[in-house]
Amino acid sequence: EKGGFSSFMEKEIHDQPAAVADTLLGRSDTSGRLILDELRIDPAELKKVNKIIVLACGTAAYAGLVAKYAIENWCRIPTEVELAHEFRYRDPIVDSNTLVVSISQSGETMDTLMAVRYAREQGAKTVSICNTNGSTIPRESDAVLYTHAGPEIAVASTKAFLAQITAAYLLGLYLAQLRGNIFSGQIKDVLADLNKIPEKIQTVLDNAGPLRELARSMKDATSVLFLGRHVGYPVALEGALKLKEIAYIHAEGFAAGELKHGPIALIDEGQPVFVVVPSPRGRESLHSKVVSNIQEIRARGARTFVIAEEGDEAVRDYAEHVFYVPETPVLLMPLLTTVPLQIFAAELASAKGYDVDQPRNLAKSVTVE
Ligand code: BG6
Repeated sequence: EKGGFSSFMEKEIHDQPAAVADTLLGRSDTSGRLILDELRIDPAELKKVNKIIVLACGTAAYAGLVAKYAIENWCRIPTEVELAHEFRYRDPIVDSNTLVVSISQSGETMDTLMAVRYAREQGAKTVSICNTNGSTIPRESDAVLYTHAGPEIAVASTKAFLAQITAAYLLGLYLAQLRGNIFSGQIKDVLADLNKIPEKIQTVLDNAGPLRELARSMKDATSVLFLGRHVGYPVALEGALKLKEIAYIHAEGFAAGELKHGPIALIDEGQPVFVVVPSPRGRESLHSKVVSNIQEIRARGARTFVIAEEGDEAVRDYAEHVFYVPETPVLLMPLLTTVPLQIFAAELASAKGYDVDQPRNLAKSVTVE
């Protein structure tokens, strides 16, 4: 069942090239046109959408944060991300021109389901990004875009997360195509880059030896911080969540720019900090700002573990360890930079002797509010 791996989580981490590939499969043609017939919302209705609200909980909500960066960039539609359980208790502004995108692996999370029901009552159109065929949230939504990650057994989500991000990209590109926001050539290029992601994830998996060694050496860590910026910010949040969920270590993710507004007070001698560095091919200023953050925390004694893009030499001088991921367009980076953080959490939790598949106090799908 575990395919020779020590846990379902390890197996599912290694299933990720297939989870992304299968989620992409059959959803575009050779000319680079998205074909999402399954969406079944009148294209004329989708063209009228003037606001998107992404609703989800836990890891799925971080997939939603990544989706916001991509959808706003490609579609120029204002996109909010909200924890589903916060949404309906604040009198949100929703109408028939709002597209509500829910993200849920199980399709049964009660908090997310109740938020979707509320949004529908208010007249919103609802699309579910879901990994479980025929589950409740897709049945109660106007449309569904299934992720094809296959069954996820480990409580802590890994392959479903990458598949959710992939599906959200497809949805964003489809809306951009429909609304004529970006040229078809650009869509074709992004699809070509997406199709190269599975083998790049494989490269990250194959190069994880030093990362696993680091994880095993950190069994006694009591706190680990994660910093990221732009699409690296949700990745930092997800890295921290994984560590809390399965290794029971206090962990927090921060937007790197927020460091000087508070979290830097936490840095003292020996504090481990993962930093997800933006690509130097993106906005140059972003890359250099995060490199300065690494210097700042290093100067205060932090242990700095850096996730960076292959070829980024600027980070080497300030990092105790650098874990490189292959090059890919900036917006697609989370599909690669998340993987080392999943591996780190899984390896550390198993080094502590914990059951990584069944963490204490957590359930795979929470069907109560
Ligand atoms: C939590 C799970 O309870 O629910 C998380 O422990 C998960 O792993 C979250 O991310 C959301 O679940 P779902 O099924 O709606 O994606």
